[in-house]
Amino acid sequence: MKKYITTPIYYVNDVPHIGHAYTTIAADVLARYYKGKGDDVFFLTGTDEHGAKIAEAAKKAGMTPKEFADELAPKFADTWQKLNIDYSEFFRTTNPEHEKLVADFVKNLQDKGFVEKRSYEGLYCVACERYYKESELIEGKCPDHKTEPIKQSEENYFFLLSKLSDKLLEKIESGQFQIGPDSRKNEVISKVKSGLEDVSISRAAVEWGIPYPGDEAQTIYVWIDALLNYYTATKIYDKPDLWPADLHLMAKDILWFHAVIWPAMLIALELPLPKKVFAHGFFTINGAKMSKSVGNVIDPNEMAEIYGADVLRYALFREFPFGEDGDISKEKIAGHYTDLANTLGNLVQRTISMIIKYEIDIDESTSSRSLTSNNISKGLDTGIVRALPTGRQAKRELDVDKEIENLQFNKALEKVMTLAAEQNQYINENAPWELAKTNQSEKIAKVLDKVFFNLKNISEMIEPFMPEISEKMKKQLETLAPKPLFPKIEN
Ligand code: MSP
Repeated sequence: MKKYITTPIYYVNDVPHIGHAYTTIAADVLARYYKGKGDDVFFLTGTDEHGAKIAEAAKKAGMTPKEFADELAPKFADTWQKLNIDYSEFFRTTNPEHEKLVADFVKNLQDKGFVEKRSYEGLYCVACERYYKESELIEGKCPDHKTEPIKQSEENYFFLLSKLSDKLLEKIESGQFQIGPDSRKNEVISKVKSGLEDVSISRAAVEWGIPYPGDEAQTIYVWIDALLNYYTATKIYDKPDLWPADLHLMAKDILWFHAVIWPAMLIALELPLPKKVFAHGFFTINGAKMSKSVGNVIDPNEMAEIYGADVLRYALFREFPFGEDGDISKEKIAGHYTDLANTLGNLVQRTISMIIKYEIDIDESTSSRSLTSNNISKGLDTGIVRALPTGRQAKRELDVDKEIENLQFNKALEKVMTLAAEQNQYINENAPWELAKTNQSEKIAKVLDKVFFNLKNISEMIEPFMPEISEKMKKQLETLAPKPLFPKIEN
């Protein structure tokens, strides 16, 4: 089956931080999971390079916006590589093919009667790249950036969003266009019901953008340009069957654009809507909003260097539920490293060491995966404490797949780690070293064989989250050459 999964395209006004990494890793987890199931996955990420925000950052750096974007975009791609993110294509909005397709798209909207020129006065927040209503501000300031928006008045082209609310509502309420989580879907529905305002889709004051078709004094609003990436990509990479996307992932900050403006644009042009948009939560760092001025920005590259990319990936999704707000910190990431070392690392190490020490022959064809309930009770009869579910049973009982499909990443990881902890306990309870004293080699073999098989399953179940660790684990189980998966970190 085809699966088209996207992340937001990130602004190149600065280097990637751990917030960007969060969404991109989530998309990678899903992409790897579906690839593992044999689906034909296309995973798109990239950078959003036009608009006032980028132009300002470039100016500060003494570069042209294009030079600046050319310097920053590869930093995102490099970081994703370091984080074991295996995207299909990296999209840049300065791609001339995209620029042309966007202009065509806007012209089409206009030809179909969905655009009108009006004079406009509004309060613009450059950091958000959007207008605010007075009532949306907190003490006159942008609720997100706590800065005063600038009053802008100009003639703009407007997309007649208000005309499309009924059609949009119908698509949402019928489930043809899904919005997750449910709580956010309900928020969107009630906002749409309370009335949609038309959106300005051009800027007279912004030079760094795609020229507005038929009026070169204006540029296309950066959000219109950016949202279209999901669709123009299917043309640029010559994948006509890719559209509609299966899932657009993002945080709640930009859900409105994805759940209202984007589908409305597609409805206007009679194009199929993405199947689902999902907004995860926003996380703070040590309880505070991540910002340069607070000095709490976490560099994902640094975390990957210290703990390994996979531990960062694990920590981000183990820490709090995907979809809810949460908090992360360097200390929490370090804590997860220790947990992984004590549970999973230790389990792999001791199991393989004992298999070697007690000269256990792990025979793939006869080991525990073929233990029927009959065999399990035989195991119990011979005095083995607590029969563990065998690998395949464990997998079914845990149903980690369902958790991943429902985007319950923390639950998926919790289940796998509980299984690992249970194996450790099972070994302790059956104490092969004690059995060895009385030469009960058959019992030792049974215990280790079972754990071994569960370990093989664990190595598969963690693959979407920890691809590198998974591969190392598989290799060690195959060659029976143990090496610490999470070595002690020297400070
Ligand atoms: N360029 C637009 C997106 C256009 S998509 C057509 C944009 N870029 S951004 O660089 O600001 O990225 C915003 C996204 O980064 C969020 O929606 C989320 O995916 C991610 N995150 C940034 N900070 C984050 C947190 N602190 N917590 C969780 N996600 C975070 O908006």
